[in-house]
Amino acid sequence: MTEHVLVTGGAGYIGSHACLALLEAGAEVVVVDDLSNASRESLRRVEQLTGRPLAGFHRLDVRDRAGLDAVFSRYSIGIVLHFAGLKAVGESVADPLRYYQNNVGGAMTLLEAMRCHGVRRMVFSSSATVYGDPQSVPIAEEAPLGPTNPYGRTKWMIEQMLADVVTADPRWQVVVLRYFNPVGAHPSGRIGEDPRGTPNNLMPYIAQVAVGRLPVLQVFGGDYPTADGTGVRDFIHVMDLAEGHVRAVQCCAHLPGLTRLNLGTGRGYSVLEVVAAFEAASGVRIPYRIVERRAGDVACCWADPRRAEVLLGWRAQRGLAQMCADAWRWQKMNPEGYGASAA
Ligand code: NAD
Ligand code: WQD
Repeated sequence: MTEHVLVTGGAGYIGSHACLALLEAGAEVVVVDDLSNASRESLRRVEQLTGRPLAGFHRLDVRDRAGLDAVFSRYSIGIVLHFAGLKAVGESVADPLRYYQNNVGGAMTLLEAMRCHGVRRMVFSSSATVYGDPQSVPIAEEAPLGPTNPYGRTKWMIEQMLADVVTADPRWQVVVLRYFNPVGAHPSGRIGEDPRGTPNNLMPYIAQVAVGRLPVLQVFGGDYPTADGTGVRDFIHVMDLAEGHVRAVQCCAHLPGLTRLNLGTGRGYSVLEVVAAFEAASGVRIPYRIVERRAGDVACCWADPRRAEVLLGWRAQRGLAQMCADAWRWQKMNPEGYGASAA
């Protein structure tokens, strides 16, 4: 019987692109998502784009143990990609318990269900946020950890939980992927990032300014110790990230225990460089205003991505111009996101 890949949070931004890449690589894909921050439409479009159906979609909260048991009983699951979780930093500061409950509680229930059904391979969506304010850049995996907000601490706790699970039973094989700043969209413009409400993140904010949904970009801080005074980040194209997940699935069986990997490009761009690249890609001027720094932001954050290249044979291929062009195509073709097709 063919082993299936179970993708939690597969209807979301990164999960939908990963599902597309997995289907293109020939995998049988089952998705579990409670649609709390996503639309079913994303996966319909993934099926259209790939010409391949999902093996199953289950609208389910990963904290629903009985629901998970039914999914594990129905399919022969070989590996779980765990994307499901809440991700808004500010919201996590305002309502930390919701974040611990959903993210840490969700991971715990999922791991218990996996153990019960003898599934011991996982690829986990972690974040560069676990490094907190880095002592130096580029950031390698051994750098000290110390997230500065509850969202980041949920990722850190889950990483520790995974390490303990692997120590207790070395048959587990877990790949922790620490994403830097995922941006962009599939080049078709059919799937992309569709934040609910006002975007928290830079690229979707710029894209909504470009399309006229928002009037002006606020640049948070113009006095950082960087070349132009604005924050510098390692933006990575979501399709590069998706392909990194395919490689992680393919390599997981050969990687013993717990493997922590940065997924970034290894180079940083400032906020104003992103604005300029987006203007070049779209031909639209982006009005901006430099305002106060945003609490909790760091000046610079970019990855040392060499370990992922050594262990997965993966490196990011797409540059900033392509990230902006693809984000713009998605926004232009879907000014309201999945909007009316979202049911
Ligand atoms: P997203 O919100 O688009 O996707 C998360 C998905 O999980 C959504 O479809 C949501 O409906 C679902 N979900 C949430 N809680 C659930 C639950 N309890 N049960 C079932 N489904 C649930 O976010 P994304 O940007 O695609 O992020 C995916 C993962 O990657 C998250 O774990 C996030 O923390 C992590 N990550 C994201 C970024 C980023 O900048 N986007 C960076 C680093 C790490
Ligand atoms: C990038 C730069 C802002 C919006 C966050 C999470 C991190 C990870 C990725 C999940 C910063 C500036 C932003 C705006 C701005 N997510 N900015 N105006 O903060 O690096 O990382 O997303 O794991 O955990 O913290 O990304 O896109 O919010 O900001 O000037 O309206 O853009 O100050 O310098 P960040 P971001």
